Amino acid sequence: MAAEIVSLIDKYREFLPVDLNTKIVSLGEGDTPLVKATSLPAALGFPKLNLYFKLEGLNPTGSFKDRGMTLAITKAVEDKATGVICASTGNTSASAAAFSAKAGLACFVLLPYGYVALGKVAQAIHYGAKLIQVKGNFDRALELVKEISADCGVTIVNSLNPFRLEGQKTAAFEVVEELGNAPDYLCIPVGNAGNISAYRRGFKLFHELGRTPSAPKMHGFEAAGSAPMVHGKIVENPETLATAIRIGNPVSWKEADLAAKESGGKIDCVTDEEILDAYKWLGAKEGVFCEPSSAASLAGLIKHLKEGIIPGDAEVVCVLTGNGLKDPETPQKINAVNLDPVEADLSALKKVMGF
Ligand code: F0G
Repeated sequence: MAAEIVSLIDKYREFLPVDLNTKIVSLGEGDTPLVKATSLPAALGFPKLNLYFKLEGLNPTGSFKDRGMTLAITKAVEDKATGVICASTGNTSASAAAFSAKAGLACFVLLPYGYVALGKVAQAIHYGAKLIQVKGNFDRALELVKEISADCGVTIVNSLNPFRLEGQKTAAFEVVEELGNAPDYLCIPVGNAGNISAYRRGFKLFHELGRTPSAPKMHGFEAAGSAPMVHGKIVENPETLATAIRIGNPVSWKEADLAAKESGGKIDCVTDEEILDAYKWLGAKEGVFCEPSSAASLAGLIKHLKEGIIPGDAEVVCVLTGNGLKDPETPQKINAVNLDPVEADLSALKKVMGF
């Protein structure tokens, strides 16, 4: 007999705003692997570093958004919503579209035209969402979403929706359960600043409940061309190749600021070059394919190790927020690879292989 499948909401029910009558909408989210780095610490010159990657790209739609979306859509159904809407740099829309399909809800997604990775657009189409590409950036699309939601009565499932971050905090519970303690540091990309806030909620709760003697220092990383929190002011025209975190006015700015300060951590930024280096190393040295934005966590860790802000013998979890397959174009763009076809004969093949 098959083992009983326990949804993320079921597993952490006591910490989430649901009751026994709540009908859960689940796609099998959560319970993602925490994988120990084996080559990178020494390769980076910090052999004593205890480094783990939380592979959130292994969620059903390929990103951490599924943790919050299972709860947001569950509650939308419970509240008899007529439909849901979000603005997105891609992952929220993929997740919203999938959970809406599962729940039988209409789903509208607004994407910043020209700045969403191919796989994410494909997901929204495939799950049957009403996809609208907006001639403006994410921040503008989110303003429009708020107006439409007020006018037309559809439920927002961006992280303005209070259930999103509540669901996302479960990732912190998993990290603690897997390690048997809280790590010293958590490194995480920052876009709309919701995920860092959600992790902080989770770690803080487990600490307050006495499950861990400490809580990790939260180190969040914006992209340098899109770093409102670092500069302390809204960025009108954010620019970065890490399109998932191309956001100039984060919704959870205050909570994220507090998460970093209260925990003894820091919000900083990393350049596109640093992000791409980390992205390449993850693939080549650890066999991990995450999307470029996700690699901001490792890029940030490397920066803080080099600057002595994080000690070389610390226990660190880097959150890798999204799956590399969402963005199949970047590896070809950034690597000098020859993809010309070769004659189908042995000698031609041996020559190309260097034998
Ligand atoms: N990493 C990935 C892969 C993301 O898609 C996002 C956000 C982040 C990190 C940043 O997380 O916003 O909670 O600080 N993506 C949103 C979206 C904005 O629309 O999919 P955050």
